[in-house]
Amino acid sequence: MRYLFYISFVMLFVFSSCKNDQSGKIQIGFSQCTSNSHWRKNMNYSMQVQASVFSNVELSIYDSQNSPQNQIKDIKSMIRNEVDIIIVSPLEPHLIVDVVKEAENRGIPVILLDRKINSNAYTAFLGADNLEVGRKAGDYIVSSAKEKLNIIEVKGGDKSTPAVERSLGFHQVIDNNSKINLLRSIDGSGDLAESFGPLLDSLGNQAIDFAYFFNDEMAMEGWKIAKAKGLENNIKFIGVDGLNGPDGGIQMVQDGVLEASLLYPTGGAEVVKLALKVLNGEEVAKNNLLSTTIIDQFNASILKDQLNRIHQQQIEIEDQVEIITKKEELFASQNMLVKALVVFLLIILSLTVYSVYSIRAIRKKNRQLEITNKKITVQRNQIEKIAEEIKITNEAKINFFTGLSHELKTPLTLILSSIESIDEMVRERGVRIGNEVELIQTNSNRLLRLINQLLDFRKNEEQKFQLKASRTNLFEFSLNIFKDFKREAKKRNIDFKLESNKQDLMLFLDRNLMDKVYFNLLSNAFKFTPDNGTITITILDDEEKGCVSVHIKDSGIGIPEKELKNVFEAFFKGSNNRKNSSGVGLHLSKQFIELHKGYINVNCLKGTEFIITLRKGKTHLNDDEITEEQDIIASNFLDLSPEYTNDDFFSVQGDTEKEKPSLLIVEDNKDLLMFLQKKLTAEYKIYFSDGTNAIEKAFDLIPDVIICDVNLPEMNGFEICKIIKEDLRTSHIPTVILTALSDKDSYLEGLQAGADLYLTKPFSYAVLSQSIKSLLYNRENLRYYYTNNIYKVRQTNSSGNLEQIFIGKLNEIIQNNIDNEDFSVENLADRLGMSRSQLYRKVKAILGMSISEYIIQFRLEIAKNMLSTSTLSISEIGYKSGFSSPNYFSTAFKKQYGSSPLSFRKVI
Ligand code: AHR
Repeated sequence: MRYLFYISFVMLFVFSSCKNDQSGKIQIGFSQCTSNSHWRKNMNYSMQVQASVFSNVELSIYDSQNSPQNQIKDIKSMIRNEVDIIIVSPLEPHLIVDVVKEAENRGIPVILLDRKINSNAYTAFLGADNLEVGRKAGDYIVSSAKEKLNIIEVKGGDKSTPAVERSLGFHQVIDNNSKINLLRSIDGSGDLAESFGPLLDSLGNQAIDFAYFFNDEMAMEGWKIAKAKGLENNIKFIGVDGLNGPDGGIQMVQDGVLEASLLYPTGGAEVVKLALKVLNGEEVAKNNLLSTTIIDQFNASILKDQLNRIHQQQIEIEDQVEIITKKEELFASQNMLVKALVVFLLIILSLTVYSVYSIRAIRKKNRQLEITNKKITVQRNQIEKIAEEIKITNEAKINFFTGLSHELKTPLTLILSSIESIDEMVRERGVRIGNEVELIQTNSNRLLRLINQLLDFRKNEEQKFQLKASRTNLFEFSLNIFKDFKREAKKRNIDFKLESNKQDLMLFLDRNLMDKVYFNLLSNAFKFTPDNGTITITILDDEEKGCVSVHIKDSGIGIPEKELKNVFEAFFKGSNNRKNSSGVGLHLSKQFIELHKGYINVNCLKGTEFIITLRKGKTHLNDDEITEEQDIIASNFLDLSPEYTNDDFFSVQGDTEKEKPSLLIVEDNKDLLMFLQKKLTAEYKIYFSDGTNAIEKAFDLIPDVIICDVNLPEMNGFEICKIIKEDLRTSHIPTVILTALSDKDSYLEGLQAGADLYLTKPFSYAVLSQSIKSLLYNRENLRYYYTNNIYKVRQTNSSGNLEQIFIGKLNEIIQNNIDNEDFSVENLADRLGMSRSQLYRKVKAILGMSISEYIIQFRLEIAKNMLSTSTLSISEIGYKSGFSSPNYFSTAFKKQYGSSPLSFRKVI
């Protein structure tokens, strides 16, 4: 900006100096009384030529056109325009006195040219001496008088000094001269034909020797009038002015029109010089008189030559002036160009300097920015590092608490299961042991809910909750939970009610999540409602709005109104709440309700009222949020439904130790292990592993069911399950994952590992027991299928079920060795990459028979087929089916199919 200011300043300076050149000219104003005579035109011309010699002089000519008013106006205008000097050739001697004075008073010098005024208030006068002119004219006439001469005077008509003084000087010479007879003196202004013509007529034959005219032009006029009367040769005409040129007095003299003319210089050139002297401050005379002379036949041509030469010189001067003017103009334009170039150079220079300065400034700024950036980067890295450390610490803390919460679930499972058993035993024996059992049960459940809440909070933070809504009768659902709280209500004399305007309302609810919402809201209601208070659950169907609202209202301490807006924030605790509280329950409830696309509000008027609003139908839910079946995850004891308690249906047959199905329990918690052994030992043969040798034990024992914990010392439960399920030897074994990890990802991981069932801790023993039975029952069904479809099972590609692959492979090997009576179980196990006992147990588990029985059965099926389709003899068929003798073949065939091969062939 500063540089732009400098540039502007330089440009202003340069252009203002150009302007000074223009306005610095000397302004000369000239007021000409009239320009209609040759003499005055000559005067103007001489002034212009002289002014043009000076490049700094500007001459402005104003023509008053014989009007004194015009002349006054013109001078005033010059004063207004502040000309440097005024030259006036006055029309009348008295009329412009005041305006000349005004100019002088304003400091503008006034030079009178040719004529004077009736005042001394002017700077200088320049002009010829008109008295001298008149005298010389008189002298000329007198000198030619040999006898008495008759003369006529034709004067100027005005009162100007030339008119007055020329006549005066003339009379000074002729008036007292005896040789001169002045016939008449007339006013020559106006039309001479009306004054001079009649004068000639009136004089008749009287001789007229000389006629003295005021100027040459009037003299020429007079000569023409005389000529018209045939008198031109009789009268000698004398004029004044003596101008050079075709119409001038010199030519008139040469032509014989005039006898003589008096040289009367215009003073045009001289007055310009005088004006410049005045402006230069030089001292000048007040009265500057120009000399005059007589022009007659004797000197006219000499004078003419001289004047022509002067004129020629004037023309040359004019040409030179013109050349100089052009050169000056050229110089001026080049000067302008140079100045413009200088300006542009200055601008370029300034811009260059500015650019260099800017570049340096930018570089400096960039360096500063880089330093700042580096500082910021260092700070940001530090912040990121600190944030990362905080995050890691935080994560570690959360993981610690989450892990701790998971860990707490196992002992809780034991406590609750033990209490469940104690309760059952006590009831069976009809013994009362007080309310301690109930106390332990209630508080364990409470503890469990709190742990679950903490885990849910973590899960919600990681956005891992996925809604699984199933069609649910809202009233029934509410009633079940209502029943759980009824005992406490009764104990504390709380008026606890469940009301509904419609009891068959079906809604799509995630029962697990909504169960948590109900428990949270009701637990809070019971926590803050004093004994003898009221708690009401009201279900209202709003058919118009297509939604249902559940109001849980209590008569408790309420929540301060200004805190109402914060109740659903995590870790909120009301200022009037003196009880212990995790502060996540209401936050989670809101999240769970919003997962249902519903909302929850709170009112506080004599207690607290929570209003849950849920939408009817399922259009507001995504497909993956809807499930037609109940979740297979048994989340906690409260989810235990009556349908899981039908023991008879899944009961395993047989009561000898040998026939008991075998269970391998992989668990590092000894208490849980002991608990399970105690509970399951009556029905199953139990094997244990603490997780360090689970795979080896599974391969060695080939148990009927494996129950596996997840958090194990060397390999986690998912990895163990995966290995077992991918190995042909153990792939058939139903596997139950038993874990504290209840999130969907863990569940998915369990399924991906091939687990048949996924139970979360704390689990209900009843659920576990029924699950094992269910798995064995399913295995039995599968076994039935395989034994009835032995030949349909062919070796399939890897996309098939592992059991099918195994049986297909088994069948293929036996088929390839069908006529080899020495082909043994060892050979087969060898080909399958198993030990004899592994093969035995695997085949027993899948097919329900020993491997030897299976081989014989396979051979018999082949033989049966040959009996129907071939003409081979019985013996040949026996050998071709791998039997060592026809007798052995017939006995085995009859045992299997109830008839001998021969009888069988006859029938078909
Ligand atoms: O004032 C001088 C006179 O005026 C000149 O002689 C004349 O010719 C002009 O008109």
